Amino acid sequence: MIGSPNKPLPRAPSVAIVGATGAVGTEMIACLERRHFPLSRLKLLASPRSAGRSTKFKGHDVRIDALDALSLQDIDIALFSAGGAISKEFAKTAPRHAVVIDNSSAFRMEQHVPLIVPEVNIDQIACHSGIIANPSCVAIIAALALWPLHRANPIHRVVATTYQAASGGGAALMEELRASTKAFLTNQNFTPRVAPHDYAFNVFSHNTRVDSESGNNEEEIKVARELPKIMNAPNLRVGVTCVRVPVLRAHTIAMTVEFEHPLTPGTAREILRNARGLEIVDDRKSNRFPMPRDATGRDEVLVGRLRQDQSDPSGRSISMLVAGDQLLKGAALNAVQIAEYLMKSHDA
Ligand SMILES: NC(=O)c1ccc[n+]([C@@H]2O[C@H](COP(=O)([O-])OP(=O)(O)OC[C@H]3O[C@@H](n4cnc5c(N)ncnc54)[C@H](OP(=O)(O)O)[C@@H]3O)[C@@H](O)[C@H]2O)c1
Repeated sequence: MIGSPNKPLPRAPSVAIVGATGAVGTEMIACLERRHFPLSRLKLLASPRSAGRSTKFKGHDVRIDALDALSLQDIDIALFSAGGAISKEFAKTAPRHAVVIDNSSAFRMEQHVPLIVPEVNIDQIACHSGIIANPSCVAIIAALALWPLHRANPIHRVVATTYQAASGGGAALMEELRASTKAFLTNQNFTPRVAPHDYAFNVFSHNTRVDSESGNNEEEIKVARELPKIMNAPNLRVGVTCVRVPVLRAHTIAMTVEFEHPLTPGTAREILRNARGLEIVDDRKSNRFPMPRDATGRDEVLVGRLRQDQSDPSGRSISMLVAGDQLLKGAALNAVQIAEYLMKSHDA
C-alpha cells in the first residue's frame, strides 16, 4: 500500500516540486514532462523571491508560488529539492496520505526512510512511512556501477576520488564558474561569493564543512555512509576524496574496488554491459573513456577505464572511471523514477 493505509495515491496524483526554480527542480519539471508522468496537477514552489514568476510545463505557463505551511495540503506526491532545512521544516506539512521524495540529506540515514536507487534497491520502496530519500548524487552514480559487480562478486572495499562539477552546488555555483572564467580570461578581478576559492582553472576540496577531527568533509561522510545503506552491505568499507573541478555539469568518479574473489576487467565489463542505467565507454585504442561533457544531458551513467589495480597482486581489485549527469540520474531523474515506481506499485 502506497501512502497512508487509509488513503492510497490516486492514479493521476497532484505533484508539487519544492525548489522548482533550482538547478535540480528545473530538471525535475523537464523529467516529469518528457517521461509523461501521469499527474493531474503540477504545483511549483520556491522561495518568496520567485513567487509570481512562471515556467512552462507541457506548453502551459505554471505559476511559481512561495512555499508556506499550507502549500502541500492538496498534494499527493511532493518532490523536495530546496535544501535540508526546508525539507525538515515542510515535509511534515504534506497530508498523511502523501509521499515526500526528498532530494536533500535531511532524512537519508534515518532508519525508517528508504534510500532508493531504483536499479539497485527498489524493493525497499514498500517500507516507507511517507518519506523516501534520494541519495547524494555521488552515491547514486557510484552505486549504479558498483551494484551489478557486487551481486556477482561481493565488494569489500571502495576507494574513490570525485571530480565534481559546479552544477552539484546549484544554479548559483554554475553562474559563478561562468563569471569567474570570464573574469580570468579578460584579466578582471573576481571575488568568489558561492565557492570558497577562485573557481576558474582551479581545483579545490569540496565546499562543504570539514570535520575538524577526521578531516573528512560532509560530502565524503555522506557518500561513505550512504553506499552501504543503498547496497544493503553494512560491512562495505568506503573511503572517498571529494573535489570540485571547473566543469559546468556532470560528475566524474575514479574508483578502485576490492572484491571477495579475483575478477578480470573483461568479466567486469561484461557484467556492466548488461546492467541497467549504464553505458560502457572503454575505448583504449582512441583513449576515449567516460567524460562529463559526454555524460551531460544523458540519463545513463558512463563507465569505463576498467583495468586491474596494479597495487593488488591478488587480482581482486579493479579500477574504473564513471561519469554521470548528477542533475539527472544523480538527482531529478532518480526522484522521478521513484515516483514512477510508486505509481506502478499502485497499479499492481
Ligand atoms: N545540484 C545537484 O546536483 C544536487 C544533487 C543532489 C542533491 N541536491 C540537493 O538538492 C537540493 C537543491 O539543490 P540545487 O542544486 O537545485 O540548488 P539551487 O539551484 O540553489 O536551488 C535551490 C532551490 O530551493 C529554493 N529555495 C531556497 N530557499 C527556499 C525557501 N525558503 N522556501 C522555498 N524554496 C526555497 C530556491 O528557490 P529560489 O530560486 O526562489 O531561491 C530554489 O528553487 C539541495 O538540498 C541539494 O543538496 C542537489
